[in-house]
Amino acid sequence: MAALRTQVGIIGAGPAGLLLSHLLHLTGIDSIVIESQTRQHVEERIRAGVLEQGTVDLLIEAGVGDRLEREGLVHHGVWLRFAGRSHHIDLTGLTGGKSITVYSQHEVVKDLIAARLSAGGQILFGAAEASVHDIDGTRPTICFRRDGAEHELACDFIAGCDGFHGVSRTSIPSGVLSAYERIYPFAWLGILAEAPPASDELIYARHERGFALFSMRSPKLTRLYLQCAPDEDIANWPDDRIWQELHARLEDQGGWRLAEGPVLQKGVTGMRSFVVEPMQHGRLFLAGDAAHIVPPTGAKGLNLAVADIRVLARAFAEFYAGEGTERLERYSETCLRRVWKVQRFSWWMTSMLHRFAEHDDFQRHMQLAELDYVAGSRAAATALAENYVGLPMEPAGL
Ligand code: FAD
Ligand code: PHB
Repeated sequence: MAALRTQVGIIGAGPAGLLLSHLLHLTGIDSIVIESQTRQHVEERIRAGVLEQGTVDLLIEAGVGDRLEREGLVHHGVWLRFAGRSHHIDLTGLTGGKSITVYSQHEVVKDLIAARLSAGGQILFGAAEASVHDIDGTRPTICFRRDGAEHELACDFIAGCDGFHGVSRTSIPSGVLSAYERIYPFAWLGILAEAPPASDELIYARHERGFALFSMRSPKLTRLYLQCAPDEDIANWPDDRIWQELHARLEDQGGWRLAEGPVLQKGVTGMRSFVVEPMQHGRLFLAGDAAHIVPPTGAKGLNLAVADIRVLARAFAEFYAGEGTERLERYSETCLRRVWKVQRFSWWMTSMLHRFAEHDDFQRHMQLAELDYVAGSRAAATALAENYVGLPMEPAGL
């Protein structure tokens, strides 16, 4: 058994684990990241695409924002489309100058991996069968298999950044965590198309046939989503059917038309809201999707992971600077206040924009009235905008 030692052992090289490793490095704290997949796999995995203002600011501040600043598409508004009409939400005007940036999650991951490796950081890709031990004591360990050999990583703390299906959360003894969950009766069928985006801002469309979203990845790539059945078989969706449905749901009475192009990728993503409390047990700290999942309608998953890491990195920095464990002890409480607000926003956007088969005419009218209120009231539009560009990273008073 090969023995390794570090200060913070990190499970998962997604945005949460990689950003934590990078921020710790900036304050002189040593970490090792264990990742079950290959580098190529994590660098090519297509996921989120919208970065909040605070996420962008943090990445730039941390010195990993050069390509993001060059290639990211800064958006100052989004469109809401319902009842055949389009309504603009002026994100920047309503939030005192904030914006969002369209930049793929896998590009953020590439930038973070490059930064870690060029600074001599250790990311152990292809680490199988990770397990965590002794989290109740002061010397927790992570065991894993790599290149046919068993390894044991001894650390002061473990950061569980291994996503929803990882081992960290499930290693916490039963009875410690409370889980809160809502599974939605629909999913999203997403495609990446080689077509120039026909709108320079995102379009969230509520349609009688179901929700649709127009987004993008670059001036040449359009990203599109359709509400579909939770158990949808992608084989039932040839490209022609997808385009037909997208045209029907996204195009408005004003003459806007969607541009088509070759479909490079398609897939179905389930929708759930999920939170565990607390986000820490002993020396194991959960961050990002390991602790919570949001439905993607608010574009918050990646941003929420970044917000957790900001709190965790600061708490570790204080601990290693000899300033005690107070901030580490408050990690879960600090994060959860923001997590629940972001859950609320993601649930609200999901509820307002999707077609619910069980809704009666009254509920459909309520949904349309809510959208009409957001579109017509500066106060309601401001509430959407301030959540969409991102709530403050840490709530005041903590
Ligand atoms: P992850 O990115 O999941 O990273 C976890 C890492 O841990 C992975 O690299 C994984 O391989 C690794 N890992 C897991 N188990 C182990 C183990 N046992 N040992 C070692 N390593 C392990 N959000 C949006 O806002 N918009 C979107 O359009 C969107 N689309 C999504 C599509 C999909 C298919 C998924 C799954 C998520 C999507 N999300 C989206 C959510 C967003 O991508 C996540 O919130 C974000 O990736 C969270 O980052 P993370 O670092 O916490 O977790
Ligand atoms: C995306 O571009 O993938 C995207 C954008 C906004 C969302 C969800 C996904 O709400």
